[in-house]
Amino acid sequence: MTATVTIESAMLHLLPPLPYAEDALAPTITANTLAFHYGKHHKGYVDNLNKLIAGTPLASLSLEKLIVETAGKADKVAIFNNAAQTWNHSFYWRSLRPKGGGVPPVTLKHRIEASFGTLDACKKELATAATTQFGSGWAWLVLDADKLKVVKTGNAETPLTKGTKPLLTIDVWEHAYYLDYQNRRADYVDAVLDRLINWGFAAENLA
Ligand SMILES: [Fe+2]
Repeated sequence: MTATVTIESAMLHLLPPLPYAEDALAPTITANTLAFHYGKHHKGYVDNLNKLIAGTPLASLSLEKLIVETAGKADKVAIFNNAAQTWNHSFYWRSLRPKGGGVPPVTLKHRIEASFGTLDACKKELATAATTQFGSGWAWLVLDADKLKVVKTGNAETPLTKGTKPLLTIDVWEHAYYLDYQNRRADYVDAVLDRLINWGFAAENLA
């Protein structure tokens, strides 16, 4: 008798490796926070997504297409939420780096100055968006036509469905900062902008 082999034809979405060690962002974001945020929350979104789309036509779509396809559809909310959170988190990890902050690469710096006046004004807008997002969500630097803008989105919402190009993001869900900063979201946001934000990643996305 021949053993039956099950072949998975569907595309499995994978949890991408962190672009740095779990302790590389400490003390601004500790290894403890990253262990839960990446190892439990992000992994959970990827695992849930794969379960939700298994055996459906959506299983053949790329992550970006899946997000756009399910956005705003009442019967696809769980799939959209897990797909968008999978994408948003992968983008967030790359929006940070050890020894980040500082001055952006010159081309991005000029674009920031053209849109916001100064780098500090851009950082202040990002901090305001991040701290005024009511409940869970994200603050983003995006390219909207030819202008850089700061926007905020609630829960899993992402600029990918809104016709703008994300350049970098800050996660303001409580799971991103509560172990390190408790309720002090503003302190987490300021520390990220000063010490971890990856302007080089934003510059790459702009190119
Ligand atoms: Fe998160």
